[in-house]
Amino acid sequence: MIAPSVLSFDHSDLRTPVLELVAAGTQIIHLDVMDGQFVPPITIGDGVAQGLRKLGDFLLEAHLMTETPERHFEAFAKAGCGRILFHWEATKHAHRLAQSLKAMGVQAGIAINPATPAQALESVLDLVDEVLVMTVNPGWGGQEFIRSAMSKVAWIREHAPNVLIEVDGGIDEETLPIAKQHGADLFVVGSRLTKGPSIGEAFRRLSQLCG
Ligand code: DX5
Ligand code: ZN
Repeated sequence: MIAPSVLSFDHSDLRTPVLELVAAGTQIIHLDVMDGQFVPPITIGDGVAQGLRKLGDFLLEAHLMTETPERHFEAFAKAGCGRILFHWEATKHAHRLAQSLKAMGVQAGIAINPATPAQALESVLDLVDEVLVMTVNPGWGGQEFIRSAMSKVAWIREHAPNVLIEVDGGIDEETLPIAKQHGADLFVVGSRLTKGPSIGEAFRRLSQLCG
């Protein structure tokens, strides 16, 4: 399934592209939340999540590229995020944070950066609902797909057949099939949606590749 990211859209009007994606049938909207500390840019907060929540009945997932992600769990859960993804690298207590998300009734996702081995997740694979494998270095849209991350997708798929695997970064018609072949279930797409023919049409084309 495609998880459209709003990062690459015009931030003065996120409503219009999200409504176009709802009309095209998206089941997920991916919010890239950056705090200027975990990654250099600052992007959007829970107020934007609240606003976009009203636009359809898709699953709203917050990708927290922030330090101390647990400080933001409640705000994004209250804003209507059904899944919250925090970074393994941003906490000493990934197991406890995953437990706290589940206790809040929110799907728990854990993200790993390109330099983090998949094996680091071994002790939380039975707890999390999803693993987000970064296929770019977090912080920006429009970057090149990092192919070496595919062995991590395959490793996770082999060790946790039921966990959802989402790949994030550099996904387009060429790279989506590669990630799917290695075992990915969900595909975050940002900048490719802005490269034509339209956001809705690009979404539909990529959705067909998901099978
Ligand atoms: C990067 C974000 C990604 C990004 C994907 O830090 O986590 O979700 O928006 O954008 P593209 O598809 O342009 O690589
Ligand atoms: Zn993301």
